Amino acid sequence: MRAWLTSYYQKVIILMAILAGSAVAGVAYAARYDMTEQAIDQRIAPSGKVRVDGVAEVDASETDAGRTPQSIYETYCLVCHATGVAGAPRIGVAADWEPRLAQGRDQVIANSISGIRAMPARGTCFDCSDEEIAATVDYMLSQ
Ligand code: HEC
Repeated sequence: MRAWLTSYYQKVIILMAILAGSAVAGVAYAARYDMTEQAIDQRIAPSGKVRVDGVAEVDASETDAGRTPQSIYETYCLVCHATGVAGAPRIGVAADWEPRLAQGRDQVIANSISGIRAMPARGTCFDCSDEEIAATVDYMLSQ
């Protein structure tokens, strides 16, 4: 053993430095590789979130689980159809819908699936099935 290592205090200091160093490395490792479900969810969460005024933060990537015509409307359609952005027929305003319904409900639904002029295809709910879009249109018409 070399002379400079023989002092008791030097040994303690070196030991503490090693412990502190591995603690820092350990914490850094744990933070990077936290395998709790919550931490994994955060790491694989999609980055896109839509913020709509008057509605709590809405996750645009919400899956089929628990999705209803109303929640689809609030997530994807409300942003345009609540106030009539770009001439969108407003929810609850019958006069906006009458001329459109003159072409028949099926055509209105087909247009909302394929998109028409400023109305984006599927109202931007790209993972919505045709049935979900139809149910959401029905929900809008019922308001
Ligand atoms: C970016 C804005 C926007 C979003 C989001 C949006 N719409 Fe629209 N929508 C429009 C506009 C604008 C029109 C009118 C298009 C036209 O006739 O020129 C329209 C028209 C419609 C029509 C009438 C189609 C017809 O045949 O006249 C329906 C039904 C409809 N939207 C349903 C939906 C549904 C359901 C959603 C959500 C899943 C949605 N929209 C999301 C803008 C939007």
